[in-house]
Amino acid sequence: MNQLLNILKPISMLRNRLVLACLLLGLAILVHAQQILPQLGKNPMQEVVSAMTLEEKVNMLVGGGMNVPGMPLPGGTLEPTDAQKRVRGAAGTVVGVPRLGIPSLVVCDGPAGIHAFNAGQSRLYYATAWPIGTLLASSWDTTLVKKVGAAFGKEAKEYGIDILLAPGLNIHRNPLGGRNFEYYSEDPIVTGNIAAAMINGIQSNGVGVSAKHFFANNQETNRNTVNTIASERVLREIYLKGWEIMVKHSKPWTIMSSYNLVNGSYTAQNPELLTTILRNEWGYKGFVMSDWFGGRDAVAMTKAGNNLLMPGMPQQKQAILDAVKTGQLDVKVLDRNVTDILNIVLLSPTYNGYKYSDNPDLKKNALLSREAAAEGMVLLKNNNALPIAVGSSVALIGNNGYDIIAGGTGSGEVTKMYTVPLADGLFYAGFSLNPEIYTAYTKYMEEELTKHPKKSMFEEFMNPTKPIEEYALATDIVAKAAGTNDHAIISIGRNAGEGTDRKVEGNYTLNETEKALIKNVADAFHAKNKKVIVVLNIAGPIDVASWRDNVDAILLAWQPGLEGGNAITDVLSGKVNPSGKLATTFPMSYADDASSKNFPGKEFKDKPVPGMFGQKSFEAEVTYEEGVYVGYRYYTTFEVKPAYEFGYGLSYTDFTYSDLRLSSSSLTDKITASVTVTNSGKADGKEVVQLYISAPTNKLDKPATELKTFTKTGLLKPGESQTFTFTITARDLASYQTKTNSWVADAGTYNVKIGTSQTAKQSASFKLAKEIITEKMNKVLVPKSPINELVNKPTQKK
Ligand code: BGC
Repeated sequence: MNQLLNILKPISMLRNRLVLACLLLGLAILVHAQQILPQLGKNPMQEVVSAMTLEEKVNMLVGGGMNVPGMPLPGGTLEPTDAQKRVRGAAGTVVGVPRLGIPSLVVCDGPAGIHAFNAGQSRLYYATAWPIGTLLASSWDTTLVKKVGAAFGKEAKEYGIDILLAPGLNIHRNPLGGRNFEYYSEDPIVTGNIAAAMINGIQSNGVGVSAKHFFANNQETNRNTVNTIASERVLREIYLKGWEIMVKHSKPWTIMSSYNLVNGSYTAQNPELLTTILRNEWGYKGFVMSDWFGGRDAVAMTKAGNNLLMPGMPQQKQAILDAVKTGQLDVKVLDRNVTDILNIVLLSPTYNGYKYSDNPDLKKNALLSREAAAEGMVLLKNNNALPIAVGSSVALIGNNGYDIIAGGTGSGEVTKMYTVPLADGLFYAGFSLNPEIYTAYTKYMEEELTKHPKKSMFEEFMNPTKPIEEYALATDIVAKAAGTNDHAIISIGRNAGEGTDRKVEGNYTLNETEKALIKNVADAFHAKNKKVIVVLNIAGPIDVASWRDNVDAILLAWQPGLEGGNAITDVLSGKVNPSGKLATTFPMSYADDASSKNFPGKEFKDKPVPGMFGQKSFEAEVTYEEGVYVGYRYYTTFEVKPAYEFGYGLSYTDFTYSDLRLSSSSLTDKITASVTVTNSGKADGKEVVQLYISAPTNKLDKPATELKTFTKTGLLKPGESQTFTFTITARDLASYQTKTNSWVADAGTYNVKIGTSQTAKQSASFKLAKEIITEKMNKVLVPKSPINELVNKPTQKK
């Protein structure tokens, strides 16, 4: 036996050695192969791209698909990619090529905080619900918005996200726009500057954004089919301007093209937009991704410069492959698109091996969310009712006081752990709440909420939950409260979101119960000489004109994020002096708005096109006949008095403006305007300083006045002053002349008005001796037929 073993031993050793040698050889071959394969970031980009197979390129240009159980996705429900598994519920992935050192990236919604579907998966995590975009813009504070962006970006990074599908920067064309809450303002200057601040904040962490939705995407009705028809001038001055400012001031890693068509062409398929304007005119260097399932023709999208098709469908890959193979699509186009994406991959946390913690500082962020929320609230009316003293007793009335709306719905909804209702905020701060009213509302809300179990985003999309009917508080309870409580606070709420525009009846306007509530409460409290305060927890303008005279104060709290109740209380109590100003007009009536005649446009009932998830939808078009007269540009020019004008907002203190000085009485290249702002009241406070210009109208019809720049003071103590110097260039003065495709500053006298809102507190004027053509552009985005556009003067020469 031993003898046999002695013979076998060397044989077995020999075999082991052989196996080892083979292994080593294999390893050496592998290492060698890796060495000769170019690696992203280590070898020149061109070599990496050349080393990619056609399939790998196509895989990179078409996202990794989507996986939302129960959701009938157009491309089918694809297995989650490894990258998607990292962040459950992330909206999509950019597919990498591991053999070339290219990782996959995770992209995740959305504009007011991280959205994830959670989709019944094991890992559940929470994010900070920041105040909505409209509130942040109402702060007019780019420093604050950048700070929010930095914290938001850091949170995303700690959750393993590479690119946030945020911010949204479409113009508030009409008050009913369902996604207006995600967007900033009716004005492109505010929009562009606030968006740039947000992006600079987010990207300062080394995570990216996808600024969305590019462009003229101002409604949700028929959102996948609507053709926006607008003149070149309107597109340039109103709908592209904010994007241009944002692109030039913040260099977003990515931009998301929109669902709609503009002048007959899908934005995602339009080279004039994505190449001529975005890349050639503005110098954009990042990449463009489509909105989810947006665009119709994968090949046209690829050619146009829509680098990435999201979330990615197998049929899109096939279409691109076929087009390359049949010679309809040059592989050089693929290389260009891939290169743009790879340049961004190089910047990403995943490529750079960032070890995310899955544990962002949510407590710290909640505090910042509260701070930002209070800074963007707008005090619309105050008849000596606010601030209210901590410790005083409050009759808190209205469903909304007990169930705050932190933000809107759809992909912009945030996966938040909690919200602070106003009732809780008041209680934490030391106010006493009427117990009978508190019990009545909390009981009612609890019962109602159990009748409406939370639906998935998809179910909500197909069949939005109706808001809980306003509780009709008995008049005798109100009367009793007027006897015992120091003041009444009525909280009114409105939500909105992706997929649906708001309606006028009962949404823009108050419903009957709300109207009755305001009247009863006002009658009862005023009879006792006590004040009635209304808090508006809303996504966009509502009717205020019909009831505002009944109440003593109105605080526009917008949708203030997860700490909303605390932030509202901070303002009501005077802990924070309100300094928000409207970045969007509140009209006297909806019909006053110049866009209301063309919103949401025409729907062609004979041309049904099933919506993304099979919902009802039709071919549609909307013509922007109001022209450049969007928001305040209309109200001011046509002297239609709004309820609360753009730029408006009260404070608990007063400010005076003095010493407006222009550097010259005539402009050649640029001019500076300096002004001093003094807190002349009794409380510490901040002021938004807005500079408007009224331009000569020799050649073009123009709005009576337009915002050109703005800033915000620091917290000024009573008596304290701050001096600002603004620079105005000829480019700032220019309007777009369609005939010559150029930006032209007319010769003539320009009036500068500085103040808060368009009511000038200081004014001065300067002259421009000779017309200046500040920039020549390309003739693109031309409407197919003339538009019956609103003009100020019938004699205007276009
Ligand atoms: C929305 C985008 C969003 C995307 C991914 C789309 O339906 O329009 O804003 O980023 O879905 O969730």
